[in-house]
Amino acid sequence: MPRSELLHRLAAETARRERAGLLRRLRVVEHGDGPWLETGGRRLLGFCSNDYLGLAQHPQVIAALKRAADDEGVGSTSAHLICGHRREHAMLEEALAEWTGREHALLFSTGYMANLGTLQALLQRGDTCVQDKLNHACLIDGAQLAGAELKRYPHADVAGASRQLQSRPDSAALLATDGVFSMDGDVAPLRELAAVCTREGATLMVDDAHGLGVLGDDGAGSIRAAGLGQREVPVLMATLGKALGCSGAFVAGSAALIDGLLQFARPYIYTTAMPPALAAAALAAVTAAREESWRREKLAALIARFRAGAAELGLALMPSPSAIQPLQLGDAQVALDTAQALEQRGFLVGAIRPPTVPKGQARLRITLSAAHEEADIDHLLQALNELRRMPGAG
Ligand SMILES: Cc1ncc(COP(=O)(O)O)c(C=O)c1O
Repeated sequence: MPRSELLHRLAAETARRERAGLLRRLRVVEHGDGPWLETGGRRLLGFCSNDYLGLAQHPQVIAALKRAADDEGVGSTSAHLICGHRREHAMLEEALAEWTGREHALLFSTGYMANLGTLQALLQRGDTCVQDKLNHACLIDGAQLAGAELKRYPHADVAGASRQLQSRPDSAALLATDGVFSMDGDVAPLRELAAVCTREGATLMVDDAHGLGVLGDDGAGSIRAAGLGQREVPVLMATLGKALGCSGAFVAGSAALIDGLLQFARPYIYTTAMPPALAAAALAAVTAAREESWRREKLAALIARFRAGAAELGLALMPSPSAIQPLQLGDAQVALDTAQALEQRGFLVGAIRPPTVPKGQARLRITLSAAHEEADIDHLLQALNELRRMPGAG
């Protein structure tokens, strides 16, 4: 048998995906102005970004980036452990630890790398990693990279999580869950999962990429909103690229956790530190997220307005209290067609299809932001209503 030619095989897989109507396509956004996006010569109202608090274009965040770039240049020039760890990184880590009520925090260049690095440092071959079926891809990939036994439980099923832990009682175990699920918008049953972990002697890790800034007092995230702290959830990961409007991520927890990650998390060690100006911008974003609570209040009011309007129209919203308000459509082609019809009416909304979500659960991932206005929500609802009334609509 001749060897498979790798590029041919890849091209064949891409063609297969295209035939299934599941090809992913890139779009160039020429300009962004709050939630408004210019693309293909048109100006569209976006309901697809993760800029939940509208901080990506906050004047103080932009000013902090410019100031630090003027002073320090663009690149960090090295990995953290050589000479890339600058004052801006140290100050941001301190602010993140304080905000989330933890001893220390450690920056990573992306959330994907933070999850890979944390799982790979904590887990060894033979350990157990129990995860919610709907966890983000990078948590799943991290467990596989670590060589741990990956055991998944049905979405938000606490008894299922407990059973998975009990199935391997003698191995060291980590239970990892999204705090807010990225494609569904619902919040994990954190108090119940924490109780299971205490009972079973497992360590709980929460990826709060979509909770930080949005939920909890002070925007400290889903763990704080559940009344839990570092003792119950020893490992917190969150990103800087969503509600904080920047880019990058961090892990926060005990001094022992952070010291260990610094030694053993390969995606932390063997990569260039994020630009110091980006860390300075993220620090300004943390301050704005904490102090400008009107952003959280406005977002909550917009979420309530959208949900009430959608309920009146009889739309199949999912039970989500967060800025992620998916509209379940089922069929991938229907989701794509609906997103295209919305685009014709001036809205940009992401159609999420398999393999990102399970087969038969394609949806529009509608995301709201404090940068939206009430009228924006009303216009979207009006467009959804018009589409529903079109002949052939489901
Ligand atoms: C739950 C969750 N974790 C991690 C990530 C990865 O973060 P980043 O975009 O910073 O790599 C994402 C999305 O991007 C996410 O939704």
